[in-house]
Amino acid sequence: MKSLILEGFMGCGKSRIAFELGKELKLRVLDTDKLIESRQEKSISDIFKDEGEEAFRDMETEQLELLTKDEQSYIISLGGGMPCRKENRELLKKLGKVVYLRAEPEVLIKRLERGVEKRPMLSGHDLEQRVKELLEKRKGDYEEAADIIVDIGNEDVKTVTARVRKAMDI
Ligand code: S3P
Repeated sequence: MKSLILEGFMGCGKSRIAFELGKELKLRVLDTDKLIESRQEKSISDIFKDEGEEAFRDMETEQLELLTKDEQSYIISLGGGMPCRKENRELLKKLGKVVYLRAEPEVLIKRLERGVEKRPMLSGHDLEQRVKELLEKRKGDYEEAADIIVDIGNEDVKTVTARVRKAMDI
């Protein structure tokens, strides 16, 4: 198998599900935000503050390009905006199978109430309005990038992980 990649809106649980899948399937887990932070030696918030969103999006594309050169299989958790560039969606196809962890805005809003300050795409906005507006704008990209869609409902990590494994037959 190539890598198994998790995409979805902020707050859908990509990192936690990736961790659980990694544990169950004994595969290494990578998180594109963490890879970028360690290459840049800066937090995502500081990258947005100092260099702006476009510079961060370029870093994301660069990170995906690097990953396509790696032969190993991983569980990869993507930053929420990664699939929005067409170029990234094409790189993702080379990298492995993409699972979209789809969630209703109400579930995301509830989960995002804490930690907004660490998410530059949300901070300084009305949370409810911003989540709805961004999700509406992005959902076509998420669907286009996905090999499989898993509805997370309001379920816990174990349940969603089991759904992903069943959907992927792994
Ligand atoms: C972003 C999501 C974040 C992070 C950055 C931008 C987005 O990742 O990449 O703050 O545009 O949706 P998470 O989805 O892991 O919060």
